[in-house]
Amino acid sequence: MSLGMKKKIVLTGDRPTGPLHLGHYVGSLKKRKELQDSTDTFVMLADAQALTDNFDDVGKVRASIHEVVCDYLAVGIDPLKCSIFVQSCVHELPELAMYFMNLVTIQHLGHNPTVKAEMKMRGFDESVPAGFFLYPMYQVADITAFKADLVPVGHDQAPMLELTRFIVSKFNTTYRKDVLVAPEALFPSMKGSLQGLDGVKMSKSLGNAIYLSDETDVVVSKIKKIKSDPGRTSATSPGDPDKALAFSYLEQFDPDPTYVEKLKERYRLGTVSDKEVKDRLTEVLEAFLSEVRVKRKMVYSDVGYIQAILKKGTEKARERASATLSEVRSAMGINYGF
Ligand code: TRP
Repeated sequence: MSLGMKKKIVLTGDRPTGPLHLGHYVGSLKKRKELQDSTDTFVMLADAQALTDNFDDVGKVRASIHEVVCDYLAVGIDPLKCSIFVQSCVHELPELAMYFMNLVTIQHLGHNPTVKAEMKMRGFDESVPAGFFLYPMYQVADITAFKADLVPVGHDQAPMLELTRFIVSKFNTTYRKDVLVAPEALFPSMKGSLQGLDGVKMSKSLGNAIYLSDETDVVVSKIKKIKSDPGRTSATSPGDPDKALAFSYLEQFDPDPTYVEKLKERYRLGTVSDKEVKDRLTEVLEAFLSEVRVKRKMVYSDVGYIQAILKKGTEKARERASATLSEVRSAMGINYGF
């Protein structure tokens, strides 16, 4: 990096509601690992956001913080290169959100397609809790507090980024000062997504995920269940590798792409069994996951180490957020000098 060139600021986050799976790895953790080397990266455990629909299960959220940090460390997210922090401990965030809420209407927030879909899924209908309905505004605070340039997120988060850009522009024009920075979303490429074992989006609630923390026997039995080409009647009948999910996993994890191409060709010709494809996948995933497991176990029981990482990350996050909050209050004219 040349002298005087500011590193880009990256903010990403996860709702801690359970351990992370291969979909998280392919869709976001891999990207974060790349980014942490060249940017100023903040990784947020969005526990307060998780509580908006888990307020009656605080224990799960709390326990998941530990699980998720262990997943991060196990795949190579490095606390020396980025700041891992706990959202609810950064008290400046809700204050920012409070001022931002004056700049948007309830109607505007009601149009958020992701929130609408989530409300439907949770059966909230007309009785949506206010905290849940407003969570995108808190997400705007998360992003702007750090003056994030880049926000690597899934496609479902596009409306939150759009809302952030709207608030940034509204704030800066209303208070006539360029305090806030408009972030750019960094979406995963088509290649950067992994379906669940049944061919639909990998998710905890659907029970179709392979976790970074899964033991060998669990991985083996899950791979047996992975969807093959349903049109294929036997190991010697031609099949379509695009319909056999094991191939999309191999494309992500097999270190030998030529081998995968050959295997696909044999699948088309009907000269390879689904079992052989799955055996290859088991071997490849085990090679990856066995290393992850070792690292995960190493840190898992070291509660003091995890605490220290979060403490340090949260302190740095608070420093940044409080500097932005102070600028925001000054721009608004409510820094009273005491
Ligand atoms: N809403 C995000 C998710 O469900 C988590 C999140 C909260 C987030 N705050 C954020 C992501 C800020 C990026 C930036 O995955």
